[in-house]
Amino acid sequence: MIKTIIITGANSGLGFAASKQILQRGNDYQIIMACRNMDKAVAARAEILQTIPAARIICLELDTSSLAKVRAFAVAFKALHLPLYGLICNAGVAGQNVTTTADGFNNIFETNYLGHFLLTQLLLPEILPGGRIITVSSDRHDLPQITWPGAQAVAHCGQDEQRDRLSYSYSKLCLDSIHVCT
Ligand SMILES: NC(=O)c1ccc[n+]([C@@H]2O[C@H](COP(=O)([O-])OP(=O)(O)OC[C@H]3O[C@@H](n4cnc5c(N)ncnc54)[C@H](OP(=O)(O)O)[C@@H]3O)[C@@H](O)[C@H]2O)c1
Repeated sequence: MIKTIIITGANSGLGFAASKQILQRGNDYQIIMACRNMDKAVAARAEILQTIPAARIICLELDTSSLAKVRAFAVAFKALHLPLYGLICNAGVAGQNVTTTADGFNNIFETNYLGHFLLTQLLLPEILPGGRIITVSSDRHDLPQITWPGAQAVAHCGQDEQRDRLSYSYSKLCLDSIHVCT
């Protein structure tokens, strides 16, 4: 059976490298490139096809900084009726310029953690027995200055400059708990 794996943020960096590596294993794998920018996704798909012409790749739009778009992605994926072998929660943003998303959350928190948390919840029923869910964390989740200020405090920005600067670390700390919450 073909193993379908969703990789978020698959158009560049680690997500792109992971897509390529998995597809190099052979035609038993199919990658869903879940990307916020479809032009970049299509270009990444084309680049892989140059070296692996038989690669099975589907590009689907996903923006993890929007809960509505995460839900829309889950609907679109389910409509494909593909048994899901793996989900790699890889998409991420870092940086000091924290903003508030349309959903009202710290954009780094929502992109890196909350969107992936919702995605995981929505796709759990689709995961095959023996399937895998992988979250891409960072060793910056346990910096010495990190103390847990509470979920509300890390979910929203603009209250504490120092905490806002650590948004990436907090988002990765939250991500590490996804498996506990499921
Ligand atoms: N590189 C490192 O040294 C390192 C170390 C530790 C952990 N990590 C983690 O590894 C993961 C991949 O990082 P990378 O270094 O490969 O970074 P990258 O090259 O910047 O790739 C990040 C990917 O995430 C996508 N993305 C960003 N915001 C998104 C959103 N709202 N919705 C959907 N996709 C979104 C980006 O899409 P666009 O192209 O459209 O921006 C891009 O495809 C991240 O979770 C990062 O925190 C990286």
